[in-house]
Amino acid sequence: MSKIKARKALVIAFFLFSPFFLFSQGQVTYYEHIRPILEKNCIACHRVGEAAPFSLETYEDVQRRASFIQMVTETRYMPPWFADPEFRHFRNERILTEAEIQTIAAWVKGGAKKGKEPKDLAIAAPVTYPKPDLVIPMNKPFTTPGNGTEQFRLFVMPSNTQEELYVKGIDFRPGNLKIAHHARLMVDTTHVFRPDDGALVSDTVLPTTNLDVMLASYFWYGWVPGNFPTLYPDGIAKKLPRNADILLNMHYSPTTTPETDQSKVLLYVTKEKPRRPVKTFILDEGWISNQPFYIPPNEVVTFYMRSPLVPADLSLINVLPHMHLLGKSFRSFAITPEGDVINLIKIDDWNFNWQMTYQFDQLVKLPKGSVVYAEAVYDNTTNNPRNPFFPPRPATTGWGTFNEMMNLIFEYIDYEEGDENLNLYQALKEK
Ligand code: HEC
Repeated sequence: MSKIKARKALVIAFFLFSPFFLFSQGQVTYYEHIRPILEKNCIACHRVGEAAPFSLETYEDVQRRASFIQMVTETRYMPPWFADPEFRHFRNERILTEAEIQTIAAWVKGGAKKGKEPKDLAIAAPVTYPKPDLVIPMNKPFTTPGNGTEQFRLFVMPSNTQEELYVKGIDFRPGNLKIAHHARLMVDTTHVFRPDDGALVSDTVLPTTNLDVMLASYFWYGWVPGNFPTLYPDGIAKKLPRNADILLNMHYSPTTTPETDQSKVLLYVTKEKPRRPVKTFILDEGWISNQPFYIPPNEVVTFYMRSPLVPADLSLINVLPHMHLLGKSFRSFAITPEGDVINLIKIDDWNFNWQMTYQFDQLVKLPKGSVVYAEAVYDNTTNNPRNPFFPPRPATTGWGTFNEMMNLIFEYIDYEEGDENLNLYQALKEK
């Protein structure tokens, strides 16, 4: 029996032998059945002040959009999640079960009933953030041209710090959620990019790891809607060199009227020098084994990467694959010196709009001598609905969306006994 058929049979069985039968009688209610699903899977983003375009916090919010919600859940457009859970689970994973999708559909068919508001309805409060220790805004507000083009901009945000900082947590707060699409933060200590503040990325010479200007960090933090800050536990932190500039590579969505933004970076800092500094391990196009990284028009091409031997035991914290609009799928795994395979991430249907950082459930130990492999498929044909050019044009390495990238980025700490059971993630709860 195929997987889909098996799934269907399971759904039918559910209907006959479970509360789903009741659901078809219009017994599904918002308070009893729907609210918990939304709470777990939607409201973190769909709440006032967060990145999604509307709130789903109240019955009225949800009822008004009931059939829309049915549609986006049935098509699995929402919640946004792209990594194959059969390959590896992640801590920030949000996936609706088939049963949850059916429950939402049954609720809508039954008239989107409110049900009885429980007396002790505990709507999970939004996570409260402590006061950040340092707020670094863009130098000045930026206004988009409002001519329907997307904007890739570079902003240089001087930290003006006298000493090296030990950063326990990074938060990126867009100034204008209407246009903030995604952001990549890098760190530069040379200050050579200062004249490019506000420039189009395509007009600047943004460095790659193998150019003359070595960035202090080629990838410091990535933000997409729904990325929430976490604080590392004591002894673990990222370093920010003294007087460094934070480079903000900002992608703004197109709008037809000008919009203004002044985003900021919020830092949570500790005085304690980290015993275990958080480091970054990046594979970029230079590590592709079937060079050149060139994608001819009307072709589907696969590129393969192979890392050097991992020099010491590492504990991987998270992984972020990066491609642009021609990207189709991405897969990465490691092979240990003993020949064991460690699955890292698999995305079958790449979506440029969601450049997520995937947080490993548990730290992943990468033993010394392992090799990390990655393979990425790019579709430069007219079958790719995201292809920016009709007819297709050749694409090669570049920061603009019309060129391509193949990056694989990991954050890690050096391995210590017991890391497999270390919980790195504390929500920011303390006031
Ligand atoms: C990680 C953050 C995030 C989560 C979690 C999330 N959404 Fe969204 N949602 C967004 C953003 C951002 C948009 C606007 C961009 C878009 O449409 O892709 C959106 C758009 C939508 C839309 C409008 C789609 C359209 O075509 O305009 C609906 C409806 C929706 N979400 C419902 C849900 C529901 C229901 C859930 C939970 C089952 C959910 N979302 C979970 C961030 C999120």
